[in-house]
Amino acid sequence: MKKNPLLGRDVISMRDFGREEIKTVLARCDEFERNPRPVLKGKVLANLFFEPSTRTRLSFDAAMKRLGGQTIGFADSISTSISKGESLWDTIRVAEGYCDVIVIRHPAEGSARLAAEATSLPVINGGDGSNQHPTQTLLDLYTLQKRTGRIAGLTVAFVGDLKYGRTVHSLIRSLSLFGAKLWLVSPPSLRLPDDFKEDLAEAETSHVEVEDLSAVPADVDVLYVTRIQKERFADPVEYERVRADYQVTPATVQRFGGKLTLMHPLPRVNELHAALDSHPGAAWFDQARNGVVVRQTLLALVLGAA
Ligand code: NCD
Repeated sequence: MKKNPLLGRDVISMRDFGREEIKTVLARCDEFERNPRPVLKGKVLANLFFEPSTRTRLSFDAAMKRLGGQTIGFADSISTSISKGESLWDTIRVAEGYCDVIVIRHPAEGSARLAAEATSLPVINGGDGSNQHPTQTLLDLYTLQKRTGRIAGLTVAFVGDLKYGRTVHSLIRSLSLFGAKLWLVSPPSLRLPDDFKEDLAEAETSHVEVEDLSAVPADVDVLYVTRIQKERFADPVEYERVRADYQVTPATVQRFGGKLTLMHPLPRVNELHAALDSHPGAAWFDQARNGVVVRQTLLALVLGAA
């Protein structure tokens, strides 16, 4: 029997995943990529998206269909009974009657955990507010492992919106389990919240907070650039104040040398120059593509079919 740390489980937060479990999941992704099989024939995935999404929703859709399964769902809550006042709890209780596994994206922190409490079906968090985005982290780690051959002991600089960026919150937790050294580059108003700093303290992860990318040493392994999360700002004036800073361009990355891996979860707005697409370390389209095999593997694992 192959190891399946996800059997019947929910995928809600990277805080629920230990180092060995992450390694096993990545190994299963690799194995699935080499030997893809339609193992979910007759199964139905419900994609419940209460917030905008391109990659997460489409890649879960593609993943389920490539596995031989089918998908139902919605891409915004306006066309659903939520707009009539239905609670999230009731929506999940109803959806569980129509499917075998649920993916949810929702603007409220903790919503995916609540959904998981409402049903005995496996629930996968496709992003809950500014809290967590665990499947993005697994595809980020998978991409890193494929490109650099390792995920242990990397020096990673996170750049941009570390306050609201859920991809950052999930990934720093996991990297801290693998002995990463971190540089946290953001304006003071968008620093990593204390709650997530606790993850770093717990793992004794070395991290330095700076305001300027020029303070980051040239030998870092990875730059992980993020979008300023406009939709989470209470004050539009505050957004305008910070959005022009933290733009990464070919000139900015020149001093980092040829071995740099450049990552971004996408969508990018103006923080990442399009000319960087031809940088040998540019990984964003790979990240997006790897999302399908990683999500195929996750769906197959939680449903006990891999
Ligand atoms: C991210 C998200 O939704 O958190 N997108 C994604 O899933 N790749 C990043 C973002 O919106 O900035």
